[in-house]
Amino acid sequence: MTLLRDHDLARAFDHAAHTYDRLTALNPGYRTDLLRSARRLRLPEGGAGLHLLDLGCGTGASTRALLRSAPRARITAVDASSGMLRRALDKPWPPQVRFLHLTAEEFAAAGAGPFDAVFAAYLFRNVTHPDRVLTAVRSLLRPGGRLAVHEYSLSGSAVHRALWNAVCRGLIIPAGTLSGDRALYRHLWSSVLGFDTAPAFAERLRRAGFTGVRVAPVAGWQTGIVHTFLARNGSRTATRGAR
Ligand SMILES: C[S@@+](CC[C@H](N)C(=O)[O-])C[C@H]1O[C@@H](n2cnc3c(N)ncnc32)[C@H](O)[C@@H]1O
Repeated sequence: MTLLRDHDLARAFDHAAHTYDRLTALNPGYRTDLLRSARRLRLPEGGAGLHLLDLGCGTGASTRALLRSAPRARITAVDASSGMLRRALDKPWPPQVRFLHLTAEEFAAAGAGPFDAVFAAYLFRNVTHPDRVLTAVRSLLRPGGRLAVHEYSLSGSAVHRALWNAVCRGLIIPAGTLSGDRALYRHLWSSVLGFDTAPAFAERLRRAGFTGVRVAPVAGWQTGIVHTFLARNGSRTATRGAR
């Protein structure tokens, strides 16, 4: 298993940042699925008056999806990799979007928020302590605030696991090797195999105090491999700035 964590992972993303958008563009569902997950937040009135957080925003693909799903919202996008953020900042953004170079944990510790909704796409599989980050997310959300996690999380069926292995062997690892980022793409392969199945991550969300947890599949070849997890912050204690 090649698993990267913390600074090693941030460095690997820094290095891969210049090819990241090109490689993800080869995945036919990448952007459509992000948009579908962001829309599943069902934010009212185009997000007017809302402040949203994109945690682990990378080069901004998930931020763009969030913006398209809620074009009137204010959006803060945070990432641990300066290289990925530089790519995000190279793109045109409206003034209500801002980017910050921090880890999710640092951002929560700085007392940020509260946010009306948090979007985290392809983040949780990468963090060392998912439960700590979920606690951080709850402290960042207003009570009742919405969470959408978009993640590679296998269904638990042997068929989906076999399909993931086949796609990694046949496409992802060769493409990552050609781009010079083999370690990061081996990390992608292993981290999906080692991460919670979809039912297990849903249970992790409930244990962390989220309510109304729902799991929805994405369409296409990633059905059973990528899921959207939707939940609300059931907290009664995080009342800072609550509405
Ligand atoms: C696979 S990329 C996904 C980027 C983006 N959300 C997207 O959908 O394209 C994962 C991102 O999470 C970031 N990341 C990993 N651990 C993090 C942490 N603890 N806090 C903040 N960002 C983190 C990485 O730097 C990387 O940019």
